[in-house]
Amino acid sequence: MSIAFLDGQYMPIEQAKISPMDRGFLFGDGIYEVVPSYAGKMVGFAPHIARMKSGLEAIGIQLDWSAEDWAQLCNRLIVENGAGNLGLYLHVTRGTDNKRFHAFPKNIAPTIFAYTFEIAPPPIADKSKVKAKKVSTSRDLRWERCQIKSTALLGNVLHFQHGYEQGSDETLLFNADNQLTEASACNVFIVKDGSVITPLLDNQKLPGITRQIVIDVLRNDGQISVEERTVTMDEVANADEVWITSSSKEIAPITEIDGKPVGDGNIGDIWLAAQTLYSAAKFDY
Ligand code: PDD
Repeated sequence: MSIAFLDGQYMPIEQAKISPMDRGFLFGDGIYEVVPSYAGKMVGFAPHIARMKSGLEAIGIQLDWSAEDWAQLCNRLIVENGAGNLGLYLHVTRGTDNKRFHAFPKNIAPTIFAYTFEIAPPPIADKSKVKAKKVSTSRDLRWERCQIKSTALLGNVLHFQHGYEQGSDETLLFNADNQLTEASACNVFIVKDGSVITPLLDNQKLPGITRQIVIDVLRNDGQISVEERTVTMDEVANADEVWITSSSKEIAPITEIDGKPVGDGNIGDIWLAAQTLYSAAKFDY
């Protein structure tokens, strides 16, 4: 049984109830975060909270919670839920109103919900111990504010489902100019001739915390070049390696796209180098 937090109270998840008039339920009018935690230690807590604050600001939800308030909540949930491999799900909606009206209501309090779910142990930087993933592709049909980590995820859900129905683990997304944006719930990296390349951040991608840590650890190490730039569909098709990154997956190697092998079809050496650096440094973030 998982212990959750809802509007100031800790309770078993089964007892957490919201009103159907909550704007998160009616409109997907909210912001969320997923922070990974292993044996009581969180990865990227500060950047996750900073991204949530900027998301709340972007959609005009005023919440006077400090990073310390979030840290207290997260640490309590970690302890209450056994301090294993946990995803901490944090969710703030604009709140509950007594009528369904699109404009922001005045004088309602945001709804704050948090719970934990089990995540897989972090990948071991060892090619023989990691299961490679396969992905499908699709035209990115989401909205033009994908930098906001909105709870309105129908576009992402439909893209994920597209791959899932084909037996894939994820769906890579390309915009109308055939440029890679991201995946339905991950950022994407490619490797070509020893260089790591990932799409430049803009309104078409979520600024992933894992993405930033990967870039940082590679740049700090200095042995492998990292570029942030436009990545075309052809470059993805001809890459030596492709990875997807997210808080719960860290760096996941992709060996098949739409049924075709990536590079030689095996997990690559640059993945190994990147995951090794990531595993060693992640708790510093
Ligand atoms: N997904 N892009 C999208 C669209 C995402 O939903 C996510 C995360 C990422 C990776 O971001 P980060 O490295 O900060 O986790 C990129 C989360 C985990 C989810 O929706 O469950």
